[in-house]
Amino acid sequence: MTVTVPPPTTATETASSADFGGRIVEGRLVPEVVRRDFPILATKSHGHPLVFLDSASTSQKPTAVIDALDEFYREYNANVHRGIYEIGERSTAAYEAARASVARFINAPSSSEVVFTRNATEAINLVAYSWGRRNIDRGDAIILTEMEHHANLVPWQLLAQERDGDLEFIPITDDGILRLDVFEVLLRLKPKLVAFTHVSNTLGTINPVVEMTRMAHEAGALVLIDGAQAVPHVPVDVQAIGADFYAFSGHKMLAPTGSGALWARRELLEAMPPFMAGGDMIREVHLRRSEWNSIPWKFEAGTPDIAAGIGLGAAAEYLMCLGMGHVREHERELLVYAFEALGRAHPDLELYGPLDADLRGGVIPFNVPGVHPHDVAQVLDRSGVAVRAGHHCTMPLHERLELAATARASFNVYTTTADIDALVAGITEVKRIFG
Ligand SMILES: Cc1ncc(COP(=O)(O)O)c(C=O)c1O
Repeated sequence: MTVTVPPPTTATETASSADFGGRIVEGRLVPEVVRRDFPILATKSHGHPLVFLDSASTSQKPTAVIDALDEFYREYNANVHRGIYEIGERSTAAYEAARASVARFINAPSSSEVVFTRNATEAINLVAYSWGRRNIDRGDAIILTEMEHHANLVPWQLLAQERDGDLEFIPITDDGILRLDVFEVLLRLKPKLVAFTHVSNTLGTINPVVEMTRMAHEAGALVLIDGAQAVPHVPVDVQAIGADFYAFSGHKMLAPTGSGALWARRELLEAMPPFMAGGDMIREVHLRRSEWNSIPWKFEAGTPDIAAGIGLGAAAEYLMCLGMGHVREHERELLVYAFEALGRAHPDLELYGPLDADLRGGVIPFNVPGVHPHDVAQVLDRSGVAVRAGHHCTMPLHERLELAATARASFNVYTTTADIDALVAGITEVKRIFG
């Protein structure tokens, strides 16, 4: 399947492959042009233009992705890997082409190493159940970090409880950087697995994944990286990182909900037992025994979310056209702008995570002194500004920072400096209301 990304939605612009229809100009992403690809951003919220600053929860979807879903359901909706008829063959081809797009997006050596899942949570659980229950025994250590999303914590708690394993945690500094000196000491435990997030969903910290993977491998551990907040924002090359498992969701990288993937090294996937069982994951079934299908289908039991998979391929193609280097630089510049604007207008604002834009992705957790983050989010909402408030599925991290909750503004390819200005003005309104 080749995904056709539509030209910009104004008739006056002419698309060229070099500048992707005016979305990239002189090597820089132009969010005002990119925004036109996202129909929802032309809508209003409480009578104000929607300012969507909650992309770390889920991103908005471009026309290229919406059209891919629409085309599937209107023109060739049929199950995959089954139908010996035209639209069945077309849906199988589109689904597998989407897998190839995802493989290219993360530079996987082969699309057969890309298992489609519903989301990052399912991808991590797949490893915890399949690899974990076969490889973790009494006393075996698994090293995690204090900044993990619950999706990369609770599956390992269940595994450790069941197999009598041991969980250890790399601590963070007060400004949200992993303590690699402590990691080095923890590695003396000879862990079987080290699992950590590439980019923190709460603090934005970009972890040194290449260095951490090298350190873990030198100690004999396998490495799982939670890439849910990395794939939408920074270039990801699984071969250059060198990890063993890389898990991510589609819906945060412009793709539909219900799409996600696990990339793992071929030898690992081949040695791992199935996670779920049923149709499509088998080659042969007898009454008392079965033989498994080849990878990746061995891990894809039952009818998958075909449309979501095709949409994930379309999102990967769209992001590759934008260029992930451009996406990263756009968000880095937005961070610099936001820190400057917030600091100038609201010097009392409490900000968390590293303040150096080079060290973090487009996520800004904050608190307005004396105002609960839920109240902050509610007042912002009234002026059309959507931010998240709460613990962001990182309760242990909030405990570590002695915070009950935070408000969080997060960016994506369509975020503009005008969105940041709206946030700054919204915080002024919060202060006016709460004195
Ligand atoms: C770092 C990180 N890991 C994992 C997840 C879980 O993603 P999902 O709910 O799509 O499975 C999230 C979602 O916010 C996340 O930010």
